[in-house]
Amino acid sequence: MQLSDHEKRMLNGEMGEPVRKAMEILVALGESYDAKRMIEVRNVHLAGASIAVTGEAGVKFAENLYCQGGCFCTRTTSNPTALDSARWCELGISEEDAELQGRLTKALENLGAQITSTCTPYYVGNAPRLGEHVAWGESSAIVYVNSVLGARTNREGGPSGLAAALCGRVPECGFHLKENRYGQLLVNVTIPLRGVTDYGCLGYYTGTISSQDTPVFTGIPDTATSDELKALSAALASSGAVTMFHAVGVTPEAPDLEAAFGGNKPETVVEFGEQEKKMILKKLDKEESSNVDWVMLGCPHASVFELTDIAQTMAGKKINPDVTMWVGTSFQTKAIADRMGYTDIIEKAGGKVVCDTCPVLAQTRELAKKMGYRVLTTNSAKMAHYSPGQFGLKTHYGNIDKIIDAAVTGRWER
Ligand code: F3S
Repeated sequence: MQLSDHEKRMLNGEMGEPVRKAMEILVALGESYDAKRMIEVRNVHLAGASIAVTGEAGVKFAENLYCQGGCFCTRTTSNPTALDSARWCELGISEEDAELQGRLTKALENLGAQITSTCTPYYVGNAPRLGEHVAWGESSAIVYVNSVLGARTNREGGPSGLAAALCGRVPECGFHLKENRYGQLLVNVTIPLRGVTDYGCLGYYTGTISSQDTPVFTGIPDTATSDELKALSAALASSGAVTMFHAVGVTPEAPDLEAAFGGNKPETVVEFGEQEKKMILKKLDKEESSNVDWVMLGCPHASVFELTDIAQTMAGKKINPDVTMWVGTSFQTKAIADRMGYTDIIEKAGGKVVCDTCPVLAQTRELAKKMGYRVLTTNSAKMAHYSPGQFGLKTHYGNIDKIIDAAVTGRWER
């Protein structure tokens, strides 16, 4: 790789050991992807902010970077942690986990991260502009930032995200290059899409057939909301290894089919209609019993509009005493919901507005066992995808109205 003088000095250790180590990681990555040079980034979203991902070794690694003088030179936000910092004890998280998570969060803060603890940093102030090169982790956020905002990132893991934040550089390869951002797979949506559950079905179906290809959708209306596109992004990245999508006439790099495919012909063309949607609903709604014990809304973290809808639907209701309901969001969004009275409505009905974490990034297998949960009920295709493997719970999948009805009655009606 061709390095600038400044980058060579970083690699030679003239800017300290953490920067040297980080540059070594970035050069190794760049060489493995045949990158010609580095590009500057000023914006990082760190995926490795939960001890469920880093383990104790990752905590020590971050602490050592700080002790050796490491300091982020980018604007850096952080993903959810393994616990809600305000109510971890009430949620059943162990003291040992809380202590270890506290160390990791402190180390990232010391290095210079803004501790946002959310997978939707674009809702809390980190919204890069069209064409901006960034280094983001967190699969759903990567797809969203590439596709909906039109910024450019590869799928950064924990170590490469840290390295980018320390050096302000990433190798120029993959989705940073315009020629790699065109679509290969055309998906014609032939049915009206209603709400995040339908967008989740579309994303999940497409992820299963697209592998690493970039899908291009026709038939997504230009009225699609940010929350619906967020659900689409999360689902695409859970059943497939998708990094971005185009929705013709909706997302910024796809004013028309020609632009989305860069003048090329699609390699594959498929349809998403009623039959495909039913197939995915069946796949994600695997639990055969009508049992409902743990309900999870807010994956990816809920926006203030989603909290409004949830509060309006729950107003005046009481959830079944045998049901636990988590509504996941960022602490910044919860502050708005607190002020608007939405948190109060949800919690009076028996739900818990949970911040800073999510079941996938908390140590949930043990938690589910301890609390006796057997089924997870969710409106998130991503959560429904991870739940069986990650915490051993089969899922019910449906829209918010159906889920809140089930939480109230304690039964899932087919
Ligand atoms: Fe966010 Fe966790 Fe879902 S990180 S996307 S709430 S699995």
